[in-house]
Amino acid sequence: MVKPRNISVWASGNGSNAENIIHFFANSKDINVDHILCNKKEAGVFQRAEKLNVPAHYFNFNDFRESKSILNLLKAKSIHYIILAGFLLKVSSEIIQQYRGRILNIHPALLPAYGGKGMYGMNVHKAVIADKMKHSGISIHLVDEEYDHGKLIFQSICDIDQNETPESLAEKIHHLEHTNYPEVIENYILSFEN
Ligand code: GAR
Repeated sequence: MVKPRNISVWASGNGSNAENIIHFFANSKDINVDHILCNKKEAGVFQRAEKLNVPAHYFNFNDFRESKSILNLLKAKSIHYIILAGFLLKVSSEIIQQYRGRILNIHPALLPAYGGKGMYGMNVHKAVIADKMKHSGISIHLVDEEYDHGKLIFQSICDIDQNETPESLAEKIHHLEHTNYPEVIENYILSFEN
């Protein structure tokens, strides 16, 4: 690639995936993490971004719904891709139209199972355990107008032990996410560009 592609990473909470993505691309010549966007003022991702010297911006629920100020920022920063990393709001159709095929999301279950409205973070793990499932995993997919619905790009599975708890499953899932998400982002962007 002649010029690095700029990515905007969106998070709503703790931000361990966002931090992991920043580390992974720190020395990349192809992909630059330009900034973090977050819709929760008190989210842990702000401390992580500060520690790593990556700008992080807060926008409220209405900003994300109306999209104008967000799209202005994305344009001003020449953002090519949006990476959702624990981002819990629905992406507006205006943003999807501008970035179709260039927004990736990670979901902490094997979609299409355990997806849709209200299915995020610990809610997903609690539902999986309550159903006595033998496996769970992660799904990385393109974002379209429906929750957790766009084209699947990658999945990885983990076993669920007999005495698994939502907390221990969350840990396994985070491990899978941290191991796989940055590389899937890199491969997707490189193949999209070539
Ligand atoms: C991750 O497990 C991610 O898959 C999930 O939120 C967690 C965020 O963790 N995302 C969703 O549930 C989206 N539907 P993190 O803040 O430590 O990266």
